[in-house]
Amino acid sequence: MSKEISLATVKEHNTPNDLWLIIENKVYDVTKFRLEHPGGEDSLLDVAGRDGTKEFNDVGHSSEAREILKKYYIGNLAAADISKKRPQNCRHIGMALVAAAIGITLVYVIRRGVAQK
Ligand code: HEM
Repeated sequence: MSKEISLATVKEHNTPNDLWLIIENKVYDVTKFRLEHPGGEDSLLDVAGRDGTKEFNDVGHSSEAREILKKYYIGNLAAADISKKRPQNCRHIGMALVAAAIGITLVYVIRRGVAQK
């Protein structure tokens, strides 16, 4: 089984010589990689000790970058610390459902109104 690492523990590793970060609920020790990072050391330091999923994805890293990531994997973020926020996609689906429900209700009300005339 892979190791579970708490967010509090990850937060302790936030310096150039001890640099952990979280991407998609997995924890990586990129201390050795930081000087090799094509995007520079600073971008990794910006997310040191915290969740860098958004930053990592925003850059549109290649599949090669994802391969490199595997080398530095050290464990999973503890289940208790996995974001309670719903993923963006869920929220979008929720909003789409609400919009659809309002739309259907409106069509129903309008058609009833027309039928009664
Ligand atoms: C530890 C995880 C990371 C790995 C393994 C990684 C790896 C790489 C690799 C291999 C590239 C070259 C282009 C590519 O293949 O996509 C790259 C570029 C880049 N990375 Fe990362 N990266 C990581 C995290 C981050 C984070 C958290 C940021 C935050 C903003 C970042 C910012 C960038 C930028 C800006 C470039 C573009 C550099 C350029 O083309 O001038 N990276 N990264």
